Amino acid sequence: MKILVIGNGGREHAIAWKLGESDKVSKIYCAPGNGGTSMEHKCENINLTDNDKLLKFALENSIDLTVVGPEVYLCNGIVDLFKSHNLKIFGPSKKAATLEGSKTFAKEFMKKYGVKTAAYEAFKDSKKALEYLEKAEYPIVIKADGLAAGKGVVIAETKEEGILAINDFMVNDTFGGAGKEIIIEEFLRGVEASILSITDGNTIIPFISSKDHKTIFEDNKGPNTGGMGTVAPNPYCNESVLKAFKEDILKPTLKGIQEENLDYIGIIFFGLMICEKGVYLLEYNVRMGDPETQVVLPLMESYFIDIIEAAIEGKLSDDIVKFKNKTACCVIGSSKGYPGRYEKGELITGIDSCSEKVFIAGADSIYNKLITNGGRVLGVTALGDNLEEAREKAYKGILQVNFNGMYYRKDIGK
Ligand code: AMP
Ligand code: GLY
Repeated sequence: MKILVIGNGGREHAIAWKLGESDKVSKIYCAPGNGGTSMEHKCENINLTDNDKLLKFALENSIDLTVVGPEVYLCNGIVDLFKSHNLKIFGPSKKAATLEGSKTFAKEFMKKYGVKTAAYEAFKDSKKALEYLEKAEYPIVIKADGLAAGKGVVIAETKEEGILAINDFMVNDTFGGAGKEIIIEEFLRGVEASILSITDGNTIIPFISSKDHKTIFEDNKGPNTGGMGTVAPNPYCNESVLKAFKEDILKPTLKGIQEENLDYIGIIFFGLMICEKGVYLLEYNVRMGDPETQVVLPLMESYFIDIIEAAIEGKLSDDIVKFKNKTACCVIGSSKGYPGRYEKGELITGIDSCSEKVFIAGADSIYNKLITNGGRVLGVTALGDNLEEAREKAYKGILQVNFNGMYYRKDIGK
């Protein structure tokens, strides 16, 4: 099979690496890919990002399957486009991708089908949103409706912070349209869990649970990032949490997907908050998480390609989706300054001799040397028989790679 993987992050490096494991797969084109995918077995980068050009490439090169990484492509309808040309592509339709693309749509869907989630109100009018703040309890959560590159959520501790956020989103239009509508929701206190899952429209099969570490500094301090490290399984996802997740979230979600005819064959990622009063759904993502993918796929026992093919054929079942009985830990190395303005152009050393797998997120390969070009630059993933062992190996691994200004959190999985 010749496969096209769309995207350029650490997630896509992990996807391409995992797909390449199967003998069924002969070639993987990564569009546009990064310095990591350019060096990965069977992979070749192609410098395309535009839907029409990707379509032309897939048709001209007889691509057997396209796997889409980022939500932006899914929300702009690449799946519908490829399918209309009889190309095989793995991902939800544009309509289904609205579960991530619009928080209002997602919350209405959750409410309609009884998916357990925080209480909320939706606003189109900034005056009404500001009025609502008068009687609200704090902290409260304010979310831009549309895609805002992970920056569209503000936890307002006070009314004043809420006013600032609403003005920013709705009046100043910081997100170029994505914050014109907002939702304001109840603040939930608890621990978060990511459950990436796969659906063929008939069933949803959860992958192993994982835990992201979102803030830049240790102990949940500092601004949020795209994710500074992950572990899988998530230590808080015990049997009773998983049972509640299935009953209160997964089952009603599947019912909704079917009743709304969403044409959903792809990844569905549940962002959960585990609270004293139950397990709540914070959000749907219609793609894999980053850096969750960098721990989930290394733990996958099955060939990823087999699972994807089963989903496309509508034949998913539990016995196809197998995970190793191990623990994984991924530590992200980021550029100096991230998540603010960060430095680029630094030479990365030590990858070849690193004892653990290194997934590249933000670096280009220039004359066979890896040069940083992003905020989150790389992730070192290690597996162990338990979390302690996985952590120890991941931290030993990250000490073996280096670039000027490299920063990483010391408490991933602690
Ligand atoms: P979301 O994009 O909806 O996942 O929100 C991004 C992050 O904001 C989440 O990962 C949580 O850390 C936080 N968050 C979102 N909604 C809530 C909520 N209702 N209560 C507490 N924290 C939240
Ligand atoms: N790591 C969180 C996400 O991918 O949305």
